Amino acid sequence: MKVLIVFTHPNANSFNHALLENIQAGLESSGNEVLVKDLYQEGFNPILSAAELAELHKGKIPPRIAIEQKQLLWADSLVFIYPLWWFDRPAILKGWFDVVLTNGLAFEYSSEGVKGLLKHKKAKVIITAGGSKQYFIDNDALQLIHRPVTDGTLSFCGIKDVSHKIYYDIANLSDNERLAILEETKHSGQNF
Ligand SMILES: Cc1cc2nc3c(=O)[nH]c(=O)nc-3n(C[C@H](O)[C@H](O)[C@H](O)COP(=O)(O)O)c2cc1C
Repeated sequence: MKVLIVFTHPNANSFNHALLENIQAGLESSGNEVLVKDLYQEGFNPILSAAELAELHKGKIPPRIAIEQKQLLWADSLVFIYPLWWFDRPAILKGWFDVVLTNGLAFEYSSEGVKGLLKHKKAKVIITAGGSKQYFIDNDALQLIHRPVTDGTLSFCGIKDVSHKIYYDIANLSDNERLAILEETKHSGQNF
């Protein structure tokens, strides 16, 4: 499979980056072709400008958007790795969706309503959270974690086979717990 990993964390020494390294190693060890899109490292501009929006409304794809879309369409599967920031994805990832998932490429409006156009076989979403699972349960907030990316974006664009992994309470994990998560992540890449 061709897998595009969209990675979102500003720090190359973060636990999120270790998750990236492990899933990439797992995916590659079982013969998948992997392209990593590290949004912070490449300085991705998350702002969809007025000029770009005007071009899109005329049916033209601005060059920098065309490059992103080529990478997206190259892949048959997608992986997203990011920390939960204010019950959502970091803004730079939201901006990547704004810029790349354009009307006509990712979805279209038809007389039967909105139709998702992405043909990706599946997607995996890996999220780390500072809060404990109990915190999310007590605050009736578990469903908020899935909403922005899986329900609000991937499902809207037609990708139905989406699996999740959420790692809670990151700051309180022991070294052994971290190692176990990294091992699990590598295996999930091998078996993707
Ligand atoms: C701007 C910001 C917003 C955050 N918002 C949340 C949040 O809404 N819920 C939560 O559980 N943790 C939140 N956190 C904690 C991060 O999710 C946590 O630090 C991260 O998952 C740890 O992964 P890392 O060690 O790779 O950075 C936030 C952290 C930052 C910096």
